[in-house]
Amino acid sequence: MDKLTTENNLYLAGVIGHPISHSKSPKLHNYWLSKYEINGFYIPFSVTTQKLQSSIESLIDLGFKGVNVTIPHKTNVLSYADSVTDRAALIGAANTLYFSKSGKIHADNTDGYGFIQNIVDVIPDFEFYDKTALIYGAGGSSRAIASALISNGIKEVGITNRTRAKSQIISENLGAKVIVVDWRSAPEMITNADIIINATSMGMLGQPDFSQPISRAKKTALVVDIVYNPMVTDLLKEAERLKLKTVGGIGMLINQAVPAFEHWFQKTPLIDEEIRRFIIE
Ligand code: ATR
Repeated sequence: MDKLTTENNLYLAGVIGHPISHSKSPKLHNYWLSKYEINGFYIPFSVTTQKLQSSIESLIDLGFKGVNVTIPHKTNVLSYADSVTDRAALIGAANTLYFSKSGKIHADNTDGYGFIQNIVDVIPDFEFYDKTALIYGAGGSSRAIASALISNGIKEVGITNRTRAKSQIISENLGAKVIVVDWRSAPEMITNADIIINATSMGMLGQPDFSQPISRAKKTALVVDIVYNPMVTDLLKEAERLKLKTVGGIGMLINQAVPAFEHWFQKTPLIDEEIRRFIIE
């Protein structure tokens, strides 16, 4: 079937997932589209696993530039891609699809990029090389962060998780720089960490508080929380009380969207205080 083309250079992109109503991506992309006066729309689509392939084909046929991919399709979607970036292959999941003019699907994962760029935005001279990190959590975010830290020259990444087997799998997949830290040993192992990262959902609005003590962290340590609602979590408050450097999660959410926005809409969006506040309103 011939691909339909939109008139007046209308740019179309969106996000597919199930459920989809929680996604902040439409708010973010449509804010930038409006700000830069781009003739385009970013639309959320509720897509079940059974309809994943046919929905992607339909969006390609309708002339979409691409889509973000969220729960539960981040892993499955790789099997429909014609090409997969190294970082998405290493993580084993994609959060962004680009559709070429000929209808080919290119899969990427920008979560790790978003994590690193968020730190660099807040602390421009931050150096990852030769540092040691400790990540709490072993879900998709943890895996993306661990792999991005390795790409940025980190010496060692410890992963600690309530369910140890999940840390073990990440360690096996990502190689010798990733070590498993027992959940009960984390309060002592934190003494070695230069970067301490919460990649669990603990501390998120409506979820249990972050339960691990950080009082033995190095005085020079950086504490990063990927939770962005609330913007300043109790973990970040505790880190500030201990006079540690802190980085919150909202910048990761915004930064992971930048490569896709650039690619789809041909514009590099600016990250400023206004977008940081708008996105969590
Ligand atoms: P994401 O894609 O954002 O990484 P996820 O894959 O659902 O989300 O992972 C959530 C992480 O938060 C997991 O590591 C989970 O621990 P389990 O693997 O043991 O489930 C962790 N997590 C969620 N709630 C937690 C809690 N109350 N205490 C400790 N860890 C928790």
